[in-house]
Amino acid sequence: MGYNIAIDGPAGAGKSTIAKLAAKELSFIYVDTGAMYRAIALGLLKTGTDTSDENAVKRQLQDMSVSIKYVDGEQRVLLNGEDVSGLIRTEEVGNMASRTSAIPCVREKLLELQQTLAKEHDVVMDGRDIGTNILPNAELKIYLTASVDTRAERRYKELCEKGQSCDLEAIRNDITKRDDQDMHRAIAPLCQAKDAVYLDSSHMTIEEVVDRIMELRKAR
Ligand code: DC
Repeated sequence: MGYNIAIDGPAGAGKSTIAKLAAKELSFIYVDTGAMYRAIALGLLKTGTDTSDENAVKRQLQDMSVSIKYVDGEQRVLLNGEDVSGLIRTEEVGNMASRTSAIPCVREKLLELQQTLAKEHDVVMDGRDIGTNILPNAELKIYLTASVDTRAERRYKELCEKGQSCDLEAIRNDITKRDDQDMHRAIAPLCQAKDAVYLDSSHMTIEEVVDRIMELRKAR
């Protein structure tokens, strides 16, 4: 059984940056479960699947395989053997992932992969339901959040730095909508596990959050 650190929280809270750094510092592997949901969303988009029809999604999932591999310590996600790590990083795929992750058969498909990884390795795993559902016995659980304004501004800066045109208000609306979908779905909604430590990163630097996680880990 690996040592498991679960980090959950809303979109744009900095989970992946922080989880990646924490994993590196601890020599654990970093598991980005959002990337797995995004890979499925990409597959459903590519095949033009009617996502309002759960049976159609189920049929499509039977022909879809999602796996991960590590290249130079970086997680890569594979859809039917193809590395789609770059293709899944669009707003379109993110929004589709938020919608389709509410479908029970989509969650079922990824549950075993995530639990097996955590069983076989020491992991820092981030997502929405890791502490509540996937790894209820994780040694350390963090609920990482930040205000909607902070998250929108961070995302805006990130996109500007990449040279992509963007609109702060549209990003803000998108984040609010994603929060609403992720927090209010019927299965495995995003919420803080009872035994998770709440961290609001609105006024913290990345380093401060990582240091806090290291302190918490030492204290366990
Ligand atoms: O973290 P992210 O933005 O890459 O995740 C994309 C979507 O996937 C997110 O809006 C909700 C879903 N997701 C989920 O339902 N459960 C997880 N453990 C991780 C992501």
